[in-house]
Amino acid sequence: MAKHVIPHSYQVSKKDRITANNHNSFLLWFTGLSGSGKSTIANAVEQELHKRGIKTYTLDGDNIRKGINNDLSFSPEDRTENIRRIAEVSNLMIDAGLVVLAAFVSPYKKDRDNIRTIVKDINFVEIYVNTSLEECERRDVKGLYKKARAGEIKNMTGISAPYEAPKTPHIEIKTETESIEDAVVKVIDYITPKLKLNDE
Ligand code: ADX
Repeated sequence: MAKHVIPHSYQVSKKDRITANNHNSFLLWFTGLSGSGKSTIANAVEQELHKRGIKTYTLDGDNIRKGINNDLSFSPEDRTENIRRIAEVSNLMIDAGLVVLAAFVSPYKKDRDNIRTIVKDINFVEIYVNTSLEECERRDVKGLYKKARAGEIKNMTGISAPYEAPKTPHIEIKTETESIEDAVVKVIDYITPKLKLNDE
């Protein structure tokens, strides 16, 4: 498809950008059931990073699916394409020098493995927001579980579509026993060494 496409090489490099920012860029990928707390935690982590002068951007399933990915459904194939596009967008943002936070259900292991391939292992931090289906359903902030139980929503993750939980995430947050503040500390502690540039 991209046979006759020859990439142009630009003089301002990623290294120039991260040197100017004085921190590394990488991707914090939040995965978990709908209503597990991914966006809430990503939002709290981003605020803390912003306070520390780190350049960030957050990509969120509900927002992205209203714009760039509004042509995609919740079929397994479309979820794969959803995650692939987000991984490519994240990759550009990493190149731009940002710490990217991405909150997507991303239920399939193979799709999460693909993100790792696209952005490269070293730039990928997998954060599993582990909230039980029972708790997500009890919270039902958006009323989606009720609709899924009534058969009004098809392919609902946890009800009529699978969620393949990460077995070895870099960070796991159990929202039923850990507070948002605990989660922020956990994420910040994990990424602090990664933020530092090599020559420091
Ligand atoms: S993903 O599976 O492709 O990663 P994504 O994170 O973009 O999903 O979107 C999930 C959001 O879409 C949920 O938080 C929820 O608000 C909404 N949603 C609507 N229908 C579904 C569904 N069938 N399964 C999961 N989430 C759904």
